[in-house]
Amino acid sequence: MNSITLAAPATVANLSCGFDILGVCIEKPFDKITVVKNTTKNVIINIDNSPFSNIPSDPKKNTGGVPAELIIQDYNLDFGFTINIKKGIPLCGGLGSSAATAAGVVYGINELLNKKISLNKMIKYALEGEKISSESPHLDNIGPCLIGGLVLIRDSKSLDLVKIATSDLFFAVVHPDVKVDTKSARKILPNKVDLYSAVKQWGNIAGLTHGFSSKNIDLIKRSMKDYIIEPVRSKLIPAYFNIKNSALDNGAIGCSISGSGPSIFALCDNQDIAQKVVLKMEKELQKNSIKYHSYISSINKQGIEIL
Ligand code: HSE
Repeated sequence: MNSITLAAPATVANLSCGFDILGVCIEKPFDKITVVKNTTKNVIINIDNSPFSNIPSDPKKNTGGVPAELIIQDYNLDFGFTINIKKGIPLCGGLGSSAATAAGVVYGINELLNKKISLNKMIKYALEGEKISSESPHLDNIGPCLIGGLVLIRDSKSLDLVKIATSDLFFAVVHPDVKVDTKSARKILPNKVDLYSAVKQWGNIAGLTHGFSSKNIDLIKRSMKDYIIEPVRSKLIPAYFNIKNSALDNGAIGCSISGSGPSIFALCDNQDIAQKVVLKMEKELQKNSIKYHSYISSINKQGIEIL
């Protein structure tokens, strides 16, 4: 095989209470990536036109280019890769955009190398790519993008990832067109957490994961509460609580910040509710004259998909 085209999907990290340890893969939006073997032993990147095409084509500055170059070197390949990237995932949006490009390119190259690269190594290569865009790259986007579904990052150092069974739920996602970069959104977080809040958060994480796997909607609803991160980060997102309350008032199970924001996700029991909820969230953004993109998506249990 000399060429492969795939969809590298967006991911919702944290899922409210699971800061840095939970991430879920969704179907939409996604980056469309084509990787073709070339004879140059180099990486050539072309960025296709899209609303989010403002990313570097220099392989050394591109989250997909870095791992591609490392793989050529580590595996002593006598060919290179031409990579076409059509970004569908908003940049700096809290939807795992840089991780999707990194993971997508690594996944595509692995297919072209007849699956020579183990999952652990693929994760490591994708992390190297993510380092380009984030000082402290996280597995809560790369993990779910590569393996799909709901993923627990039990330990990021040892790459101990656990895929948690999930029932079929839907996400209504709005991406307000405001800049929130992960670095600044982490800087404002507290260094210490009081024990009382931590205990409540732990209870919620356990409840949330059990609720997902057993489709216990009421348990998810009770557990989807974040006592530590949301109170601080919500200040970075205009009209955040108006948007969140409109989602909850219109049938969402829970609603919180996706990753480090500014995207906001609402978890819904079915597609009809998600459709209604997203319209209400959009209305709040319109009231506040904030431009946005919005998505409705089921959980993507597979992760990256070959097209
Ligand atoms: N979990 C990270 C954060 C973002 O909330 O800062 C996604 O990797």
